[in-house]
Amino acid sequence: MFFICGLSLTWDTMAKVTVRLTLLGVLCICVISAPTKKERDVDIYSFHINSTVTSRYAITVITSRVANRLNESKEIHFEVKISKNAFISKFRMTIEGKSYDGIVKEKEEAQHQYSQAVSRGESAGIVSSVGRTLEEFKTSVTVAAFSKVTFELTYEELLKRRLGKYQLLINAQPMQPVSDFKIDVYIQESPGIAFLDVGGGLSTDELTKAITTSRSERKAWVNFYPTLEQQTQCKSCSQDGLNGDLLITYEVERAKYNSGEVRIENGYFVHYFAPMNIQRIPKNVVFIIDRSGSMHGRKIHQTRLAMLKILEDLAGDDYFGLITFDRYIDVWKPELLQATESNLKTAKAFVKEIQDRGATDINAAVLKGVELINSHPREGTASILILLTDGDPTSGVTNIERIQANVKSAIKGKFPLYCLGFGFDVNFNFLEKMALENNGAARRIYEDSDADLQLQGFYVEVATPLLTHVQMNYTGVESLTQASFSQYYNGSEIVVAGQITDNNLETFQAEVIAVSTGHNVTYKDPSAEALEPEKYFTVQRIWAYISVKQLLEKE
Ligand SMILES: *[C@@H]1O[C@H](CO)[C@@H](O)[C@H](O)[C@H]1NC(C)=O
Ligand SMILES: *[C@@H]1O[C@H](CO)[C@@H](O)[C@H](O)[C@H]1NC(C)=O
Ligand SMILES: *[C@@H]1O[C@H](CO)[C@@H](O)[C@H](O)[C@H]1NC(C)=O
Ligand SMILES: *[C@@H]1O[C@H](CO)[C@@H](O)[C@H](O)[C@H]1NC(C)=O
Repeated sequence: MFFICGLSLTWDTMAKVTVRLTLLGVLCICVISAPTKKERDVDIYSFHINSTVTSRYAITVITSRVANRLNESKEIHFEVKISKNAFISKFRMTIEGKSYDGIVKEKEEAQHQYSQAVSRGESAGIVSSVGRTLEEFKTSVTVAAFSKVTFELTYEELLKRRLGKYQLLINAQPMQPVSDFKIDVYIQESPGIAFLDVGGGLSTDELTKAITTSRSERKAWVNFYPTLEQQTQCKSCSQDGLNGDLLITYEVERAKYNSGEVRIENGYFVHYFAPMNIQRIPKNVVFIIDRSGSMHGRKIHQTRLAMLKILEDLAGDDYFGLITFDRYIDVWKPELLQATESNLKTAKAFVKEIQDRGATDINAAVLKGVELINSHPREGTASILILLTDGDPTSGVTNIERIQANVKSAIKGKFPLYCLGFGFDVNFNFLEKMALENNGAARRIYEDSDADLQLQGFYVEVATPLLTHVQMNYTGVESLTQASFSQYYNGSEIVVAGQITDNNLETFQAEVIAVSTGHNVTYKDPSAEALEPEKYFTVQRIWAYISVKQLLEKE
């Protein structure tokens, strides 16, 4: 027996108007099989990936058709990598004209069945993390002599705007050259597409010839049809065929849409808010840097490199503070100082001297950071606290719940805390919860040669606050997703979705109130477009996607 458990979002019957959030479950597929080795008598004769992006929402279908050319039954594997942010919405196998859908079970029940399968000594598989941005979905099925099987996996994700662009990552590694291989991407964005770029490992050398792109004002198509020969001769490929990613980057037109863009479909709405051409807000930023013994070696070296670069990027009217900690807390200066040339010079000297040693007192370090920011209030600025750590709290207060409570009551929702977890020894859940409780976010920094670039990359995303205290107000709506945000940064995007009460468009209204460099601003009447319901009810799916993500974050 083979058993797959992966977190998935399911869509009851999409024909119905309601998507129940309780449908969050675990996708479990049980397939009876005998363990055998994989060989080439298994012929993947067709492999298609079809991705449709509508208003930043990507629905991707992978269809793999496989034939057992042997005169005996054979176990056939299906392994694909999908984006970590995606939910699997459907998995179907078709054998000899008969279809089997992945069965969706409640999480506990699935976990129970999974444990049972393992305790009976049967092989078990699970959706597992591979690398930074992808996770693997695996299953297998036994197929009779000279028979065929079709695997069809659908996954969905809302593309997130980072540094002024969206990225759709498609991985292709069919494990052998495939005579009928296709990747089709179709993007439709009603504000218009500002630019489109196709990159990734599959877009190099030989393979560029197999890519075609075409565009109209609001639509774009990317097709990738490599021949059998191209699939084995490119740089990243081998006798096992293609192995790599296609990375599609694009941005939508913004100029006309400072109040944002609202899309309404079938009783649901989604509001994208990413105003441009506003003045940046000077910031007060405090960096809290772990220098405990575990940071020894490359990690502390990369942290110093990244900090030096980040300091250079501060604007002249920013104020900043530096704290390093192990079991002791050191502050560079007892107050926030302006990012003047001479202050930056002494700060850099301080950073260059950071050495690793001792235990980890996260509690005291973060509280010190809060104190630094609180003791220097400045009108019309945006405060940001950034914690970088690679380990569990081991000194001072070590109880995680108590640290979280202390930090929350110190910050009081006044500014965001961002937590960067360095390496794999960190308790990332703890950091993530603490960040989310304080209006921030957590990011994993992978221990690798580019860790300093990852750190800088994160900083750049929050380097330019444009608005604070962003409140998205709606009338005539219900089941809203998160609607207040402590800060809005240049290059990002705020997305709110909800249900329109009684599907009554007459009463529906949207406005945004926020603070920009010391004065209140209101954005009214976003451009709204009511759509004819499409096959996929995209807007409703976006609402469900955000709701479930936010539910998961709370858990
Ligand atoms: C991709 O999927 C969409 C939606 O199901 C469909 O309309 C389109 O024809 C498919 N494209 C290809 C090339 O199969
Ligand atoms: C399968 O084919 C091989 C030769 O290719 C033959 O030796 C074997 O007996 C066949 N097995 C069955 C079950 O027909
Ligand atoms: C925001 O980013 C855009 C490029 O993405 C840039 O043109 C603009 O100047 C930035 N705004 C500020 C205030 O830095
Ligand atoms: C901004 O609005 C808030 C409440 O909405 C109000 O308390 C505050 O005084 C306003 N600030 C300015 C500068 O108008």
